[in-house]
Amino acid sequence: MAMQTIEELFEHELKDMYSAEQSLLEALEQMADESSDREIRKGFTQHRKETQAQIKRLEKIYKVLGQKPATGTCPGIEGLIKEKKAFLREKPSGELLEFYNIGAAQKAERYEITAYETLIDMAEKLGMGDVVELLEQNLQEEEMTLNRLKAIASEFDVAEETDDEMAEDRVSK
Ligand SMILES: [Fe+2]
Repeated sequence: MAMQTIEELFEHELKDMYSAEQSLLEALEQMADESSDREIRKGFTQHRKETQAQIKRLEKIYKVLGQKPATGTCPGIEGLIKEKKAFLREKPSGELLEFYNIGAAQKAERYEITAYETLIDMAEKLGMGDVVELLEQNLQEEEMTLNRLKAIASEFDVAEETDDEMAEDRVSK
């Protein structure tokens, strides 16, 4: 049957995010494992905990709707996970992988932020105040995480010793 109502679109997008958050749980655990920097690892672990709480909030929304949570896959986030797998085949150094993860996590946050903003807009149109409140909490956590990641990225130091520079060093000695 053809989709015709905002309610249906809302449910469609809710399912997308419910699936996205599940995939991100696993991705965040992996990125924490790949972090040698203690602060970065702590950041990923903390956001993983927040993600578990976000999933609970989405389940509350399903309750409000009188529905069971519907799982599927979120092709948007799966795409980012695929990109990461392809990147791993380039055999990056541990440090570069760590820097890559900080960027990939920002891409995921931006996806989530836009998805939640869209869901909030629809929930407002549908007059679902309780649902808006739950979604706002998730949105706030994603925004804080994006800001934290941006700060980490700008402070991140990648050792920049190329073969050419090493050769130059030897010549000048
Ligand atoms: Fe999230």
